[in-house]
Amino acid sequence: MTTVGVCGNLLGIRDLDGARILHFLDQAEAFREIMDRDIKKVPTLRGKVLVNMFFEPSTRTMTSFELAGKILSADVVNFSSSFSSLSKGESIKDTARTLMSLGADVVVVRHPHTGVPEFISRLIPVPVVNAGDGIGEHPTQALLDLYTVRRRLGELKGVNVTIMGDVSHSRVARSNIFAFTRVGARVRLVAPPTMLPAGVEELGVSVFHSLEPLYHDTDILYLLRIQRERQSESLVPSLREYSNLYGVNAGVLSRFKKNVLVMHPGPINRGVEISADVADGLSSLIEEQVRNGVVVRMAALYLLTRREG
Ligand code: NCD
Repeated sequence: MTTVGVCGNLLGIRDLDGARILHFLDQAEAFREIMDRDIKKVPTLRGKVLVNMFFEPSTRTMTSFELAGKILSADVVNFSSSFSSLSKGESIKDTARTLMSLGADVVVVRHPHTGVPEFISRLIPVPVVNAGDGIGEHPTQALLDLYTVRRRLGELKGVNVTIMGDVSHSRVARSNIFAFTRVGARVRLVAPPTMLPAGVEELGVSVFHSLEPLYHDTDILYLLRIQRERQSESLVPSLREYSNLYGVNAGVLSRFKKNVLVMHPGPINRGVEISADVADGLSSLIEEQVRNGVVVRMAALYLLTRREG
């Protein structure tokens, strides 16, 4: 195997096999001890320029990539659409060319439209990382989620993952379905029929409309945000009804087997898909996911810019 994904990019988990996915996790693990140092800085990407192009609001993901780049000593340029010429009508093509003239060595792209990171990757000769494209993929989120589970449970094979929420509008769900199934975990989806993409079973998952059959064997309960900006509100009669049927609070959690762990990519809607006590409780891995995001993104930046051949 010679490349990461297609042409040295990280556009989606769809492009990766299980061994490649685990390779990212192993690299992240190798970087982990840097985070415990007093001075969190290594020269790995010294002299390289990382450009973050964010055409959609983001705090967590952009900060995480920025920090990952800085810890590896890259020069980091953040470029978000509200400050860019895109608001003056510059095309994505021109923007990409400008970035190349600035000397970018790796470009991280988030965009509200599916496929834009791939489009940009065909315009520029440096690695592109998809940091979330429309309802497409969010590969580094899935990698950090697998990393978090592996650290907690010691393995991924045979782990029962229950993903609940608006699967059809969630790039996180798509990437996680690919990622968890390829490393041998079992993925079960729970959602109202309107929030499930047609034919999703073909991806090797099983589908449920309630949690009940999954209480006894769920290891990881992965909750998704109701994607208000992606029109999901019309997919359920009301947020209150969604919350009554699919919201997870301490009462719901107590019906699961002992040691069930709760995950969420953030941002969370407290009181809708997850109650505050569950989000902040002992079963929650949410903060750990955010923390682990940095080493996983360091691994991605390093492996993509290393020129593996
Ligand atoms: C996710 C995203 O933007 O796709 N969040 C994130 O990356 N932290 C999930 C979401 O928006 O619900």
